[in-house]
Amino acid sequence: MAEEAVLGFLEKNEEITDSGQFAAERGIDHQDIANIIKSLHGFKLVDAQDIKRERWVLTEEGKTYAAAGSPEVQVFLAVPPEGISLDELQRKMDPTVFKIGRSQAIKNQWVEMGKQLTRKVQDVDDKVKDLLIRIQDGEVVEPKEIDALKRRKLISPQPWKGYSVRKGPKYAPRRKKFATDLTRENILRGDWKDLEFKEYNFSAKGQPVGGGSLHPLLKVRQQIKMIFLQMGFEEMPTNNFVESSFWNFDALFQPQQHPARDSHDTFFLQVPSTTKMLPEDYVERVKHVHEFGGYGSRGYGYEWKREEANKNLLRTHTTAVSSRMLYSLAQKNFVPKKYFSIDRVFRNEAVDRTHLAEFHQIEGLVCDRNLSLGHLIGVLNDFFSRLGMSKLKFKPAYNPYTEPSMEIFSYHEGLEKWVEIGNSGMFRPEMLRPMGLPADVRVIAWGLSLERPTMILYGVDNIRDLFGPKVRTWILVSSRKTLSVASEYKRLVSHFL
Ligand code: PHE
Repeated sequence: MAEEAVLGFLEKNEEITDSGQFAAERGIDHQDIANIIKSLHGFKLVDAQDIKRERWVLTEEGKTYAAAGSPEVQVFLAVPPEGISLDELQRKMDPTVFKIGRSQAIKNQWVEMGKQLTRKVQDVDDKVKDLLIRIQDGEVVEPKEIDALKRRKLISPQPWKGYSVRKGPKYAPRRKKFATDLTRENILRGDWKDLEFKEYNFSAKGQPVGGGSLHPLLKVRQQIKMIFLQMGFEEMPTNNFVESSFWNFDALFQPQQHPARDSHDTFFLQVPSTTKMLPEDYVERVKHVHEFGGYGSRGYGYEWKREEANKNLLRTHTTAVSSRMLYSLAQKNFVPKKYFSIDRVFRNEAVDRTHLAEFHQIEGLVCDRNLSLGHLIGVLNDFFSRLGMSKLKFKPAYNPYTEPSMEIFSYHEGLEKWVEIGNSGMFRPEMLRPMGLPADVRVIAWGLSLERPTMILYGVDNIRDLFGPKVRTWILVSSRKTLSVASEYKRLVSHFL
């Protein structure tokens, strides 16, 4: 309606000289008219010039007098023809109205003060109230009348903004609707020829998208994956959580009485409880090395049982994957390899602030002729310094499948102490030779949990916070914190490319 009024008026007239007056004459709210003029001006349908004026508006006090009458009139009306004592009058009236009204009424010579307050005239006009109402209605009043009200603080100036409006370069009596999309219908009807399209607004903000956030474990996993890839490692397939005891333990020269195999540490499967397929000739060689040794070893000297090896379990370490990979590598002509994996493992452990029953392991291995412990230490230094841990210490350790074995410690600047970050070693000949790997082939390997470095990077001191009910809020908070990891990741990617 306001738009039609403005465009329609300009069709026959040169100019709207004052939008305020224009709105008042048509009984349209000025704010509505002003908004339409701004919009039409933006689309160049009209040309608008600002008009700034000072307008008078009633103060709070002014508004009460416009409604209830000026104080002097209120006082005059409260004085009965026979007169009244000041005390009595005061009791009847609002104190401010009484105070202002009395002196103003005396000044106007409407009442006089003798022993009592008495009327001097029969009737009075409330000029102040009338004036206030006229101003309230937006009428223009004489400057000298304004002055008196201004002095009594019954009105105050307010800046007012309106427009004078003429036709603009794209004037039309009706605003054309611009098309925002070219549709199938437009093409079929042929009206695309006449459509005018809305211009792109390149500075418009897009809809905020409430996307998900990656779990920090996934981010750190990605970061570590990039480190391995940079170092020329290939990823091993880790998609089988269910593994046989054979690949998880026996192939690794882990004796069948080893406490880690105990159901206290391992989740065994009920259905299917056993594996169906194992490479039989290799199984024979593994049995032999456990029972009698070979390749310079005396073996364990116990009766190795096939039933134990057949038992299915949830893999307790990703070294089960490494054993499968090394076995299949041994089935072909030997080529050196660098492998890694990062995936889930399961242990039947009591959950506390540092242990979970399922967690992730990171594992790396290098398989080549004549590798030494020096190579292992070199690779570990390279790998961990890329993770930001350059101060390393090694401590002799024991694993059934590695000799020598070393625990890896890193100096934690924040905690100001050495923390254990991983385990490593050189796979034993008792493990490698039955697979069929050549005698001079050595495998250096290491493993660590993914949770540990993630907790260190994100400052989490309770592992349950990584998985428990707090995860949601924690992920949201850490998705902001991720910037440093993300930029590190970017740096890695650019390095890699
Ligand atoms: N499998 C070991 C563990 O679970 C880690 C490891 C991997 C140790 C490779 C030596 C070599 O802790």
